[in-house]
Amino acid sequence: MPTLTGTISYIKNFIQDQDVAAIVPSSSFLVKRVCKWIDFDESAVIVEYGPGNGVFSEYILDNMTDDSTLILIESNPDFVETLEEMTADDPRAIVVEDRAEHVEDILNEHGFEEVDYIVSGIPFSFLDEETRVELLRTTHDVLAGDGKFLVYQYYNHLEEPLREHFSEVTKEREYLNIPPTIRAYEACK
Ligand SMILES: C[S@@+](CC[C@H](N)C(=O)[O-])C[C@H]1O[C@@H](n2cnc3c(N)ncnc32)[C@H](O)[C@@H]1O
Repeated sequence: MPTLTGTISYIKNFIQDQDVAAIVPSSSFLVKRVCKWIDFDESAVIVEYGPGNGVFSEYILDNMTDDSTLILIESNPDFVETLEEMTADDPRAIVVEDRAEHVEDILNEHGFEEVDYIVSGIPFSFLDEETRVELLRTTHDVLAGDGKFLVYQYYNHLEEPLREHFSEVTKEREYLNIPPTIRAYEACK
């Protein structure tokens, strides 16, 4: 659960860094809605794009098996520090200060050829068209055959590109979040 200090620091980062894109962290309702698509009984390699102050990361670490790995790719240095503190005693977590666009190189550097899930909260609408398409292509490529891309977005701009890149896409909405009516997608490779 986010603390008051954590929420204040989140708001500070929102003001200073336009890529943060949300004024407060995602709600626990959204976290559960998205993470229900992860099979926590199986060992898995999970990547998170844009974990922020770690609301999804904490839930995933609490639920994943001891031999699973969670790779956190975050561009904001303040959030990276928070995530490093949060995961300092957990050898299953790898925190990387970088951009999601470099996921392929990041996975190579850490010895992973493919991953089971990618959870993403980055604002795809802030990326230019070419970068957005390239990131969807790379995301699809690094997923295992039965891998899933789990993504939540405030605007309805990603559904069509997701359907172009993935074989099956399920959409849900979560109203108990700030802002409400956020879209959550399960995109299967
Ligand atoms: C809307 S916030 C979501 C934060 C958190 N996942 C949550 O649900 O509360 C977006 C996050 O993505 C990060 N971010 C934005 N663009 C990114 C990129 N291209 N690569 C990695 N992180 C990015 C921001 O710094 C921020 O932490």
